[in-house]
Amino acid sequence: MIEQDHPAPQYQDGLHKKAFGKEFKWGVSTAAYQIEGAHEADGKGPSIWDDFTNTKKKVLQGLHANHTCDFYNRFPDDLDLMRSMHIPNFRFSLSWPRILPGGTGSVNQKGLDYYDRLIDNCLSRGIEPWVTLYHWDLPAALERQGGWTNRDVVQWFSEYVQLCASRYGDRVNHWMVLNEPMAFVGAGYFLGIHAPGRRNINAFLAATHHATLCQAEGGRILKQLLPQAEIGTTFSCSHIEPYRNLERDQKAARRVDALLNRLFLEPSLGLGYPFKDIPYLNRIEKFFEPGDENRMAFDFDFIGLQNYTRELVKYSFFTPFLQAKLVPAARRGVPLTVMGWEVYPEAIYHMLHRFNAYTGIKKIIITENGAAFPDTVKDGQVNDPDRVEYLQRYLRQVLRARQEGVKVEGYFVWSFSDNFEWAEGYHPRFGLVYVDFETQERIVKSSGHWFSQFLAQG
Ligand code: BGC
Repeated sequence: MIEQDHPAPQYQDGLHKKAFGKEFKWGVSTAAYQIEGAHEADGKGPSIWDDFTNTKKKVLQGLHANHTCDFYNRFPDDLDLMRSMHIPNFRFSLSWPRILPGGTGSVNQKGLDYYDRLIDNCLSRGIEPWVTLYHWDLPAALERQGGWTNRDVVQWFSEYVQLCASRYGDRVNHWMVLNEPMAFVGAGYFLGIHAPGRRNINAFLAATHHATLCQAEGGRILKQLLPQAEIGTTFSCSHIEPYRNLERDQKAARRVDALLNRLFLEPSLGLGYPFKDIPYLNRIEKFFEPGDENRMAFDFDFIGLQNYTRELVKYSFFTPFLQAKLVPAARRGVPLTVMGWEVYPEAIYHMLHRFNAYTGIKKIIITENGAAFPDTVKDGQVNDPDRVEYLQRYLRQVLRARQEGVKVEGYFVWSFSDNFEWAEGYHPRFGLVYVDFETQERIVKSSGHWFSQFLAQG
């Protein structure tokens, strides 16, 4: 439990909850595979991440999330802690293979029941559940049939969305279809550093198109079954700048921006893929079927913007398809997080303005922002002033954009607690709450105390 009299770091001048307005949504974000553990419990099927970590041993030192924070068993205590920290909104994802172990067909009742309990436990504590349908844990059985590269994924995904919407729609009012398609398609099917570990440009293009179709189709199914609910989807984005003031770097920056920030967003808004900036993308049309142009768009109630950093881009003759490369922040002498990402608060401000400029975007929620820093336990406490400062500085930029008229109406910290950070394992700790993965002890970090006192204002 959080102690009431813990001395929290001071607020920076001008950063008061009141300034964001009464309706602004505050919360924390998580994802099933990163926190649940219980990877084989109660009939759950394997996901591509279970295969990637346990069978293929593709993560450093054979690490996996078989147990991770054990949220599957410990969620009532974690929700108590969340409530004691005054956190009113909780974003989590549903694990597709927990609900449909084979991805399609027979349903795992115990998996469905688990999310009933989780949702009910949120509601009974006055915490609003925000549900992501897909945060990267595709059922392994579907990957054996091609996964995101097989167009049947649109059918498989639709079946899963229908099931979840019918089961939980009476209690869940905020839905997100996909988490960061650029991340799971890019890292999973082109770079091969995330599950399923494929490295193939055609696989990348096919997966891109099918994820785009699922993104919109998922939105349509949710809206049809739950007309009162708020339907969104989330996008990763980084503020992109040319490394040097040279035309070739500027053009390279435009291509990277199109790939990282526009590839999935623009088709959802009815603007199609950014072919003009990346002509190579035209090849995606071989995966089109008649009518796809219309099927790619859906009028979302909100867009989840997820930003952590900025990237500087340089022309590179040798980089296939893009002729551009990122200049690592570590080589630029700038402040870094444990992920090697630059701390650059203005990035979120610029991305908010960018998203806001699309007339098709009705409302923006920051569904992820946060940082990993080297946290250590001393005398039973975790003092993380860097994270407090990071959050305060990024939040000031969110406020700045909001005061300039940007339609940003919520902010969720990534993440509630430390968890399994995908290809990086357990080293990067993003939590407001520290987790000892051996004992499962939780310690609210000073950033957690700060956030909780911030939320308790007014
Ligand atoms: C993802 C999270 C991830 C976080 C930090 C986002 O890309 O949605 O799952 O842990 O960033 O890397």
